[in-house]
Amino acid sequence: MSQGRFFDMMKKLKQLISLVATVALVASCTQQQQEVEDPLKPIPTEPVIVKPTTPAKPKPAKPVKPEKPAKPFVPAAPGVRVSSVSVPGKYVAITFDDGPHATLTPQVLDVLKKYGAKATFFVAGSNAARYPSIMARAAAEGHEIGNHTYSHIQMTAATQEKIDSEISRTNALIEAATGSKPKVMRPPYGAINSKLVSRMFNTYGLKSILWNVDTNDWRRPGSSVVVQRALDGAKPGAIILMHDIHAGTAAAVEGIVTGLQARGYTLVTVSELIEMGRVAAKAAEPKPAPVVAPAAPATEVTAPVTEAVAPEEAPIADPLAPLPVEVPAAQGSATLGGVAI
Ligand code: NI
Repeated sequence: MSQGRFFDMMKKLKQLISLVATVALVASCTQQQQEVEDPLKPIPTEPVIVKPTTPAKPKPAKPVKPEKPAKPFVPAAPGVRVSSVSVPGKYVAITFDDGPHATLTPQVLDVLKKYGAKATFFVAGSNAARYPSIMARAAAEGHEIGNHTYSHIQMTAATQEKIDSEISRTNALIEAATGSKPKVMRPPYGAINSKLVSRMFNTYGLKSILWNVDTNDWRRPGSSVVVQRALDGAKPGAIILMHDIHAGTAAAVEGIVTGLQARGYTLVTVSELIEMGRVAAKAAEPKPAPVVAPAAPATEVTAPVTEAVAPEEAPIADPLAPLPVEVPAAQGSATLGGVAI
């Protein structure tokens, strides 16, 4: 081998080695790039650190919730929001909102007095402040005075501070004029919700009174229409809505009172109506009878029969003392004579 040829071979060998090295380098670079871009091997290690921090967040939010129910919310007691009452008789409550009025309210009071009828007046504090003597007269004559806010606000759109001010101012005026705190309130426009109903009762002892007969007298349809609507809507336990600031309403009162009385209705205040409903509901509750059973031994057959008839008659004759004497006389049967004994 000549020296020149040896150098040639060495040169080619160098080139070959260089080429192989370059190819190998390029290949490894490509492989590294592919490895970085494609698989997500490094990511699984990161979320392990992130995940434990996220579940820790909802934990501090939970302890806030149990504090809320402990504070104010008390559900409205049954019978605190009333639009009619279930009563065992022909009783109705007529109600007058927005007064007192200087001349019309006394006119209404005169009619009620003439016929021995009772009503409820939901006064606006702004008018109550002007006519305390009219409220005093109404209360003295057996009527009920209720709260209708001071300036006839829509309670559902007012702040709590405003509502408290409106209610407490009017309560104070009613108490100053009549000597007693009101037990009932009527939200202007009938705008009220469960939260307000609860607040009225829990804070002020006021039941929220709505209605189930609306005469729409404020539209001034004429006295005869107001009378007709009141009479048509009346049923036992009804609460009838009117306003004693309209002349047409004041003129309709006599027709309403006499019409209702002619149909056998007694006109009472709202609180009286509610009390009747409460007493009736309590009386209707099933009473424990086991005390009666052991008292009547099986040997006496006649005794239980006598006892069974007596309680049936009792509720009918209940309010009137002379009735027990009259009933047997009217029916006059021999059986009844035996029962009476
Ligand atoms: Ni009103």
